[in-house]
Amino acid sequence: MLHAGSAFVTTMTSRTQETIELDARHVAHNYSPLPVVAASAEGVWITDVEGRRYLDCLAAYSAVNFGHRNPEVTATAHAQLDAVTLVSRAFHSDRLAPFCAALAELCGKDMVLPMNSGAEAVESGIKVARKWGTDVKGVRDSNIVVAQNNFHGRTTTIISFSDDETARRGFGPYTPGFRSVPFGDADALARTIDENTVAVLLEPIQGEAGIIVPPDGYLPRVRALCTERNVLMIADEIQSGLARTGRTFACDHWGVVPDIYLLGKALGGGVMPLSAVVADRHILGVLHPGEHGSTFGGNPLAAAIGSTVVAMLARGEFQERSTELGEHLHRRLGNLIGHGVLAVRGEGLWAGVDIDPVHGTGKEVSLRLAERGVLVKDTHGSTLRFAPPLVITADEIDWAVHRFAEVLRG
Ligand SMILES: Cc1ncc(COP(=O)(O)O)c(C=O)c1O
Repeated sequence: MLHAGSAFVTTMTSRTQETIELDARHVAHNYSPLPVVAASAEGVWITDVEGRRYLDCLAAYSAVNFGHRNPEVTATAHAQLDAVTLVSRAFHSDRLAPFCAALAELCGKDMVLPMNSGAEAVESGIKVARKWGTDVKGVRDSNIVVAQNNFHGRTTTIISFSDDETARRGFGPYTPGFRSVPFGDADALARTIDENTVAVLLEPIQGEAGIIVPPDGYLPRVRALCTERNVLMIADEIQSGLARTGRTFACDHWGVVPDIYLLGKALGGGVMPLSAVVADRHILGVLHPGEHGSTFGGNPLAAAIGSTVVAMLARGEFQERSTELGEHLHRRLGNLIGHGVLAVRGEGLWAGVDIDPVHGTGKEVSLRLAERGVLVKDTHGSTLRFAPPLVITADEIDWAVHRFAEVLRG
């Protein structure tokens, strides 16, 4: 789509236009991208086919936490490309076990189930919880409790417990076995868990819903309830984890350790799809050969990159950057409250910004920001998400927020 009326339309060269037209003809229309055609990227900057530079404040939905083409990650990728990339799980590789051991240690758990996309990790977590329910808890007709306004991906099962009508409509029949309660309401959760509940699945901070941080006592109560009622607590840290909020996991802000971590996005260093289910042996041990798998899951290239990512996270510097620069980002965005911004939420370098709807939809404001060289993504209605790569500097934050203020001034 060419977004008629946008300044982009008048300044587009034929290269941009041709690419967007080709996209419209041959790429399924399941996204509605801004008219920016990326050609290269480095750190926090994306350059388009016209040579225009944009400050990336989306970071591929947090998959590029460590910056585009992070040198440590690309060095690992180049070296591994020259060794071995894929053998399937039919054989061992010298990369998988060290990666799983390191990731398990980072999470304080025993075992890792490697997969590819985030949605696959969620699906796998659900399967593990159901199998645990059958084999260990002895439940026949199990249920899993989820939070309202969740976002866990796009597979048939996952959209079955979404309340986003756009994601659901027309894709039934839906997978049964899920119950939804308001996010942040531990009493509702306590009332909903019954003897057939095997897991509570939630994002510790809801990302796609608009960076919704729960009340302080909520996650500790979820943890306590899960322990008391013999239910697995599954934290989907696919977007919130791996330093995005200033801690390795968002759960760390409340001192909460779930039974199962679901990880993805940044785990692949912005290079490979790499996701994981991480848990102790008494949980992940319910899987036996043939019961679950993936041809590409845990391939040597992804595993080598994952090991580098885990080593980078173990140093703690990305978490520190996210905390310090996140405070800076939140302070700067907070100054715009009353000047076109209604509210700012989030933790670390992750901010959900509600814009006064008089300035247009989130999509319209994103387009105007892109024209000024800043890439952000709307979530719902008039909420924008600022989630730059964690290598951003304070000056770059100031520059982006300045552009945002200009857009809001009109
Ligand atoms: C919390 C959460 N879980 C799962 C997913 C799905 O990940 P993927 O798009 O890699 O399937 C996402 C994607 O945005 C997410 O934010």
